[in-house]
Amino acid sequence: MSFELIRLTDPVDHRAELADDVRRGLGSHPKWLPSKWFYDDRGSALFVQITELPEYYLTRAETEILEARADEIVGTVTPDEIVELGSGSSTKTRILLEAMRRAGTGRRYAALDVSEGALKDAGSTLVDDYPWLDVEGVLGDLLRDLPRVPRHGRRLVIFLGSTVGNLAPQERPAFFRSIRRGLRADDAFLLGVDLVKDEAEMVAAYDDAAGVSAEFNRNVLVVINRTLDGDLPIDAFEHVTRWVPDASAMAQSLRATRRITATIGALDLEVSLAEGEEIHTEWSCKFTEERLAAELADAGLAIARWWTDAGNRFGLALIR
Ligand SMILES: C[S@@+](CC[C@H](N)C(=O)[O-])C[C@H]1O[C@@H](n2cnc3c(N)ncnc32)[C@H](O)[C@@H]1O
Repeated sequence: MSFELIRLTDPVDHRAELADDVRRGLGSHPKWLPSKWFYDDRGSALFVQITELPEYYLTRAETEILEARADEIVGTVTPDEIVELGSGSSTKTRILLEAMRRAGTGRRYAALDVSEGALKDAGSTLVDDYPWLDVEGVLGDLLRDLPRVPRHGRRLVIFLGSTVGNLAPQERPAFFRSIRRGLRADDAFLLGVDLVKDEAEMVAAYDDAAGVSAEFNRNVLVVINRTLDGDLPIDAFEHVTRWVPDASAMAQSLRATRRITATIGALDLEVSLAEGEEIHTEWSCKFTEERLAAELADAGLAIARWWTDAGNRFGLALIR
C-alpha cells in the first residue's frame, strides 16, 4: 500500500562513523575495517550478484528451507508484522511475506539496513508487487537500532543470509542479548546461519572464479576514497579469504601487493602498509546447531524449531 523511508542515521553521522572506524581500524596493528562499509549502492548490487554465483550456495540453501517452511513459520508465530535486519534486496523475504498474506495475519514489513539504495529499490518494487503491503525502509544500524523501529503488534524479527556470521565473534553475545530485550513474549526471531562444512566448499563461496567477491571486498576502499577524500590504490590490494578454525569462520582481508603509502584527505591521515600486509575486512562465522543453541541460551533465548536444507549446508532457527 505504501513505502516510507525512515532515517535513523543522518548522512553527517554516517560519514562521521565511517571516519571514526577508518581512523581506528587503519591505525591498528593488525589493520581492520568493519564489513558494513562494503554496502554503498555498488556494494549492495555486487552482493546481489554474489548471491547468484554458482559457488555461493548460501542463498539457494536458505531459499530451499524458506520455501518448505514459510507457511509453518507464519502459522506458528501469526505475526502482525515482519521486521528484517540487514534486509538488502529483500528477495528471500518475499517467501515469508507471501506466506503472511496467505495466512491473513499481517500486512506490514519493516526493513532495516545501512544501505539507502538497497532499501529504496527493495521497498519500491515490493509495494508495486504487493499492493496489500505497508513497507517501511529503516536506514540504521542493526547492532543498535531495532528498538527504534516503530512497533505495530506481534513481531517476527528475521535475520537471514547468515549475516549474523559477519559480526565479530566477540560482538555476538551483546547482539543476542539486544534481540532478547527487543522481543515480547509472543514475538519470535528467525535466524539463518551457514553451517560448518567442507573447507574447500566454504573457501570457494568467498573466492569465486568470476572475481565478484574480490570486487565486493575492494569496494570498501572505493567507499573510503569517495567519502573521505582518500587515494588508496584499489588495484594494489588483492582479495584474500581463509578458514580460521579457532573462530569457526572464513576471514576476508585485503593484502597489499606492494608497499603502499596513501592519504585520507578528510582525516588528514597517512596510511602505510608494508608489502604483504593485510587489512581484515570481514568475518563469515560458521555454526553448528549446538554452538548456536549455547550462544542463544547465554542470552536467554532458545531454539524452538530448527530446519536445514537437504544438503545440510544451511540452518534456519525459529527462536523465542
Ligand atoms: C550479507 S548481506 C545479506 C542481505 C540479505 N539479508 C540476504 O540474506 O541476502 C548483509 C546485509 O546487511 C546490511 N548490513 C551490514 N551491516 C549492517 C549494519 N551494521 N547495520 C545495518 N545493515 C547492515 C547490508 O547492507 C546488507 O544488505
